[in-house]
Amino acid sequence: MGRLIIVSNRLPMSLDVSDDGSYSLRQNVGGLATAIGPYHKTHKDSVWVGWSGVDPGQYSDEEIDLIREQYESRRCVPIFLSKEEVDGYYAGFSNDTMWPLLHDFAHEANFDPETWRVYQEVNEHFLETLVPLLRKGDKVWIQDYHLMLLPQMLRERFPEASIGWFLHVPFPSPEIFRSLPWSREILEGILGADLVGFHTVDYAKNFEGSVELLLDKHSDDEGRFTMPDGHEAAVDAFPIGIDYNLYRRTSRSNLARMMRRGIEEAAGKRPHSRYLSSLTAESNAAAEASAKEGNWWSHYAHEELPELHLAKSAAEGSPKPNKVIVSVDRLDYTKGIPERLRAYQRMLEKYPEWAGHVTYYLLATPSRENVDTYKRLKEQVDQLVGQINGKYSLLAWSPIHYITRSLPIKPVCGIYAAGDVALVTPLRDGMNLVAKEYLACHDGRDGSLVLSDMCGAAAELSEAFIVNPYDTEAVCEALHDALETSSEESAKRNIAMQARLKSRTAATWCAGFVSALEQVADVSSSDK
Ligand code: G6P
Repeated sequence: MGRLIIVSNRLPMSLDVSDDGSYSLRQNVGGLATAIGPYHKTHKDSVWVGWSGVDPGQYSDEEIDLIREQYESRRCVPIFLSKEEVDGYYAGFSNDTMWPLLHDFAHEANFDPETWRVYQEVNEHFLETLVPLLRKGDKVWIQDYHLMLLPQMLRERFPEASIGWFLHVPFPSPEIFRSLPWSREILEGILGADLVGFHTVDYAKNFEGSVELLLDKHSDDEGRFTMPDGHEAAVDAFPIGIDYNLYRRTSRSNLARMMRRGIEEAAGKRPHSRYLSSLTAESNAAAEASAKEGNWWSHYAHEELPELHLAKSAAEGSPKPNKVIVSVDRLDYTKGIPERLRAYQRMLEKYPEWAGHVTYYLLATPSRENVDTYKRLKEQVDQLVGQINGKYSLLAWSPIHYITRSLPIKPVCGIYAAGDVALVTPLRDGMNLVAKEYLACHDGRDGSLVLSDMCGAAAELSEAFIVNPYDTEAVCEALHDALETSSEESAKRNIAMQARLKSRTAATWCAGFVSALEQVADVSSSDK
């Protein structure tokens, strides 16, 4: 059947340099690496080509050879890009032009002929790495918006090659896409593939509409475009899933359980016996003693200080149970973090009875920090979290627990598992795997998902609390409903969604695309 050559911007492994100067590779946990990684591992003849993330200017030739060997021993072919190439191709055209444009943020897109030039050069650099590797009968599967010109470049060199391309982010409407000065070149680049895949039917339609509008080409009844060189490009939707069992299993690991327990204790969900009862006892005793002494503040303190209610409710059992909200994102403006924080603030304002009873664990991992928009977002989120915590915090409670580091999968699963509610409200997202991972970590139990209708996952997870992420009032209400939902009701909603996620996994997605590529390539070659 020929080998599968996977091509993506990042390889599935990153380089770790230890203190003694030795090199090792660490498996990445991103969606792409988790989805295609197992195929690459089990198909011993498959090869993965991608950027090493290593700046060759920082290493000697011998060191680069050692790094290359490490990768090659894992059937990965590393590409080394200079700092200028990374700035122009990755930070520039990929993440400062295509990323915003594809996510409907055209006003944030920077149309710079210089980064476009470097983007073309780096796509050619990928081509030159692929050429000597390819054998007759191989299938090449190119990933994402970093490599949109590569399918056509490869087609010109290997007219008979079997080429697939998949986009892991949304594809915008033709009216937005046409604002890109190089939109025609990009469409022609993608159409070099035999099979063009998207997460949803809507994105596939947007792509087809753009080809019609900008290239004046029309697809046949089966969604295929016939190209001038005679090859056909089929367009279809392949919604990506997750490794459900991995997340379910990991959420039950010791480390994840410890993390969950720690969060539940800190949030006052578990009677944190020693700390909270002594706090209650001490606070009450202090208030009573002061009252006897006639201190002016003691009555106020005893009656009004919500710390006392919080402590008492956790220790003695309260009508309002304490709850945890969680979210896990890269710090990216498409994820809607400031909008979500405003909705949470609105909820604290509108339903003050939640003060002291709900804690929001916000894990936001810094990303693409050399792009200005991302720097500005980080400052904005830092500020908003500070404002909300400053305004609503009590002496022993803060509404937001903010973590801006990258955490390994076990603690992340512990966070998911601790969440009574997951707040997943991207402004635009190709699929959103976080929503799916949260549900897998709540396998067979309650936990409410508040989900944006602007992501691919919303089509599959209709039992969630679906919201418009721009509508502060609606998110506030959905969040409140999710917090108030009974455990039985939320477990019932989850069963339906979990059943779907168990049958449409990352592995079935990967196998589905590869077999569709084999089929279209077969049809194309028999037509010739
Ligand atoms: C999105 C893209 C991926 C990318 C990931 C992380 O999910 O579709 O291709 O790897 O973001 O972004 P980064 O720029 O860190 O690779």
